[in-house]
Amino acid sequence: MSATDFASLPQQNVLVKIEDGIAWVSLNRPSKRNAINPGIVFEMVQVLDVLEADDSAKVVVMTGSGDAFSAGMDLKEYFREPDAGSPIARERLNRANSAWQWRRLMHYPKPTIAMVNGWCFGGAFQFLCACDLAVAADDASFGLSEINWGIIPAGIVTKSVAAALQQRKALYYIMTGDTFDGPEAEKIGLVNFSVPRAEMKPKVVALAKKLMEKNPHVLRACKMGYHYARDMTWDMAAEYLTSKLDAAKFRDPEKGAVKGMTQFLDEKSYRPGLGAYRRD
Ligand code: COA
Repeated sequence: MSATDFASLPQQNVLVKIEDGIAWVSLNRPSKRNAINPGIVFEMVQVLDVLEADDSAKVVVMTGSGDAFSAGMDLKEYFREPDAGSPIARERLNRANSAWQWRRLMHYPKPTIAMVNGWCFGGAFQFLCACDLAVAADDASFGLSEINWGIIPAGIVTKSVAAALQQRKALYYIMTGDTFDGPEAEKIGLVNFSVPRAEMKPKVVALAKKLMEKNPHVLRACKMGYHYARDMTWDMAAEYLTSKLDAAKFRDPEKGAVKGMTQFLDEKSYRPGLGAYRRD
């Protein structure tokens, strides 16, 4: 992709920078705790399009500017105002929001990591759960606060939470609205790691580097395979994953499976149990 595409990003409601293969994507309304308004929604759709085509972005990290990851959907600009406007515009906004927050993000062709740097409420769980991996600061604060507003966690929040957490934990937090911190988020499986704030970014960078050593085409097939197979019967999943394996091998331009086999069996130059084959 050309530099012009990247330059076309507004860089207002969402900031994007690419450093050493990592695309840092920050929701950027710190004064509103990065609550998701239409500006964020439509910019995020554009950001995902641009980063998909940008070869210098190998891993995408989702985070927030300031001291919040995201305070969820903007009650005024995402709900109250659009609800009072045209039904078609309301529908268009919902569609665009679903597109970036889970339809596209969950199946995004590049690895994604959520870096939860602070407040994370309601609708923020949608894109947190849609990211492949997640790292939180110990002092981040999570909450399914919808019950406190007299509403249910809608959009796709309830389904995201049901997929990520065990029933007792999911229902506890959905029904009480209690907040919890990073260590609890790690304990219940909502994030992979919770670390002191100073270690959060280095942890994310280390994780991204580990992913960058792997074959990107196969990483893509791995996450597609995971999400689709999960909702299939066992027989369907076996059939689908066998075909997916063949398709991934066929489509892989670097022919990783052959390379790995040669490096292990013939050259005896690496141990696949301990690391990735050499991609160069
Ligand atoms: N929608 C709209 N505006 C929001 C918002 C949201 N989800 N979350 C925060 N804001 C706005 C506040 O209205 C305030 O705006 P103002 O400065 O114009 O008055 C600004 O962001 C700062 O919020 P404030 O409450 O003063 O910050 P805080 O640091 O003391 O508290 C939170 C942060 C996240 C704990 C608190 O803002 C909050 O509880 N927000 C709602 C979170 C929520 O329930 N989200 C789920 C939505 S479905």
